[in-house]
Amino acid sequence: MSAVLSNTCQQTKESSKRNEIARRRWKILARALQRSSEGETNEDEDVSVRRFTSFHLFAMKLLPSYNNSTSSVASWSEYSVVVAREKYSIFIRHPFPNFTATELMGFNNTGNICIWPSEEVLAFYALCNLQQFAGKTILELGGGSTCLAGLFLAKYSSAFKIHLTDGNESAMKNVQYIVDRNFPQGNDRLVCSVLEWGSFWRLAVNQHIKPYDIILSADCLFFDEARNDLVETIWTVLSENGTAFVMAPQRGDTFDKFRQEAKARGFICSSKKHYSDHVWNRHLQVKQNCDYDENIHYPLLLILKKSMPAEIGDQFNL
Ligand SMILES: C[S@@+](CC[C@H](N)C(=O)[O-])C[C@H]1O[C@@H](n2cnc3c(N)ncnc32)[C@H](O)[C@@H]1O
Repeated sequence: MSAVLSNTCQQTKESSKRNEIARRRWKILARALQRSSEGETNEDEDVSVRRFTSFHLFAMKLLPSYNNSTSSVASWSEYSVVVAREKYSIFIRHPFPNFTATELMGFNNTGNICIWPSEEVLAFYALCNLQQFAGKTILELGGGSTCLAGLFLAKYSSAFKIHLTDGNESAMKNVQYIVDRNFPQGNDRLVCSVLEWGSFWRLAVNQHIKPYDIILSADCLFFDEARNDLVETIWTVLSENGTAFVMAPQRGDTFDKFRQEAKARGFICSSKKHYSDHVWNRHLQVKQNCDYDENIHYPLLLILKKSMPAEIGDQFNL
């Protein structure tokens, strides 16, 4: 009898945990959907938007309909930026938010809403530091429906291999459309796939998957239920001398919790608030905006390493 009671109690606990997770996901999704339906204001250099959605590091030009069969479900834009007098640009597909009930109840959809400021900033940071990626194998985790940072690296760095991933299938379908349009001749250094942290790292431990030199991740630290899986995934697939660049806002205590878990796992962690003069200046500019909340909008850069040879520390100014 007591075994039955303790089983029931366990089931009730698990179901209320699941409800709590679902409740939080709905809240994030509802907020993001509300934001995207209110429009994102002008796309030029004006950063004082009504609701903060972007640091506007990239100029965004809406493109004419690309393929009639998809124009009712998505729009295309060109994202471009000039860094050290070089122009970098890429075509990005934005699916219109129109989730089926199955999608809403299925895998986390936060990456299908928009490009979050952390991804924008990570892409910009990568373009400012292209030489660090030369000859490297790169994995982007939780890249959402664009994997913007990894995609720019695929086009402009001389990385050896780039693997773009997210756990959400629709997000990765969109990334595949983007890859097909940006690399019409194909790109044999670039791979895209669905990668769900929890199942991946367990599999990777057993299969001894070849480690990556660099891991990228933007705004993926606030899922309490998946934080440990993300730490384990990075630990499992990062090479001994590799570096993970994790960009994310503080978002309450979620950044610190991730950092603590990463440290407990054995990572050498270094976080930076001021990693780019340009991003910092934008931050100071938008700070005047009442819709800008540093805690949830300003991305901090967390650098994770398993070991720290002196020259690497110097390279990244750690
Ligand atoms: C807030 S979005 C960030 C997306 C993108 N990096 C950006 O900043 O625009 C978080 C992303 O993490 C992905 N994600 C959440 N939990 C995951 C898991 N367990 N495995 C793989 N991806 C996950 C979601 O699908 C989503 O795309």
